[in-house]
Amino acid sequence: MKKAIIFALLLSGFLVACTSSQKIAVQAIKLVTPERPAGQQDVLQLRTAPLPVVRVAFIGLGMRGPGAVQRMTHIPGVEIVALCDVREENTRKVNTMLERRGFPKALEFSGDTAVWRKVTALPDVDLIYVATDWVSHVKIGVQAMKDGKHVAIEVPAAMSLDEIWALVNTAEQTRKHCIQLENCVYDFFELTCLNMAQQGLFGEVLHVEGAYIHGLQPYWNQYWNNWRMDFNRTHRGDVYPTHGLGPVCQVLNIHRGDKMNYLVSVDTRAVGNPEFIKKNTGEEVKDFRNGDHTMTMIRTEKGKSILIQHNVTSPRPYNRLYQLTGTRGFANKYPTEGLAFDTEGMEGDAIPNHENLNAHSFVPRETRVALMEKYKHPIAREIEGLARQVGGHGGMDFIMDYRLIYCLQRGLPLDMDVYDLAEWCCLIPLTEISLDNGSMPVEIPDFTRGGWNKIQGLQFAR
Ligand SMILES: NC(=O)c1ccc[n+]([C@@H]2O[C@H](COP(=O)([O-])OP(=O)(O)OC[C@H]3O[C@@H](n4cnc5c(N)ncnc54)[C@H](O)[C@@H]3O)[C@@H](O)[C@H]2O)c1
Repeated sequence: MKKAIIFALLLSGFLVACTSSQKIAVQAIKLVTPERPAGQQDVLQLRTAPLPVVRVAFIGLGMRGPGAVQRMTHIPGVEIVALCDVREENTRKVNTMLERRGFPKALEFSGDTAVWRKVTALPDVDLIYVATDWVSHVKIGVQAMKDGKHVAIEVPAAMSLDEIWALVNTAEQTRKHCIQLENCVYDFFELTCLNMAQQGLFGEVLHVEGAYIHGLQPYWNQYWNNWRMDFNRTHRGDVYPTHGLGPVCQVLNIHRGDKMNYLVSVDTRAVGNPEFIKKNTGEEVKDFRNGDHTMTMIRTEKGKSILIQHNVTSPRPYNRLYQLTGTRGFANKYPTEGLAFDTEGMEGDAIPNHENLNAHSFVPRETRVALMEKYKHPIAREIEGLARQVGGHGGMDFIMDYRLIYCLQRGLPLDMDVYDLAEWCCLIPLTEISLDNGSMPVEIPDFTRGGWNKIQGLQFAR
């Protein structure tokens, strides 16, 4: 077992009544938080030298990467310097797209899985944008920061606690930005609901839900070297938690006044993916680790609860859930967007619209549409038109890239920091530990190492 997941057992805190006369202590699994090395400080609200022109190199140009290059061509003040992929045809295709769009050709790097080292070492690059398979993210990210670059890494950026701490420590040592490219926090409904929550429309948000429910059958055979199915085959737990967790953590101000304390995970047995493998290859897999459906419950320091689900195999419509339950209101994204409010006792501006508000049903469509317009997030108001035109999951991918470049150009703190990355990815190793130990509670490390309450509330820098 790796050194970062040496367990210490908590003998108090979780007590269960067995009989009226007997109580037994149920242990929770606590993980050792490595001490912050001397001389190293947190990177909360990190500001770096403004970069009026951001020179970007892309590593990983499979299904996801080329779209990112294309989106960046719509952002003024971006230079696309280098393109890298194991497969030469991938870099060539993207360079052709650049030329077609009237941009200078970028340097190309391809041929093997270590060629990216030449890219992180390039002198005239500010940002390394990583869209490779999950297991290569961290070695590229760490080296990029050591080579003096900011780094943006696709989701999930890190897959184990050792990897998470490596990114946190390297970001703190080098004072470089290390951002996870979590696009779902920029979807329009989520942005508006974040704004509503910050303005108190839901009262105090107490319970939130998120998910990644997406049948991946059309894609399984398209991933380079079968990396995604292989990871699911060998890992139990929620291996793709960030789309569900990111947006709801922002609403709860995680490490900006609250922190996740512990989780408990439950899964089903694995049926769909082993069946898929059997059908496609004839192989009978008996030891497939990832259950069809995984549910994880989290409790926070401030007494909030989070439910996160993962299912990439059942015949269900796509769903990220996104539900906010507050003391005065409720938001729901899937399968249809809905808002509900309790108006009793609300006064003046706090009442969005008196008509037809009812705590037990969604507000009528026209009220919802009016509210969504009124509370549209300022960032969406600023860039929605171009975002919808350029696209990328309806525009949210473009807003993510736009905000990244906007903040780098002005030397502002990024919307998401390395601690968000750590918190949203830590479900991958921690749910596996919980599941392999009979759904025991697992303590969630404070990746800020004491800084979770320093900043009060999430703000996107302007
Ligand atoms: N945010 C989102 O909505 C979203 C959507 C899809 C994928 N993703 C993420 O994007 C990443 C890539 O996914 P994908 O679907 O494009 O997978 P993919 O298999 O299609 O592409 C991965 C690419 O990386 C290249 N590669 C692998 N190792 C490399 C190395 N060492 N050096 C250079 N190139 C290397 C491969 O040749 C391949 O072209 C994953 O982390 C995935 O989870 C995110």
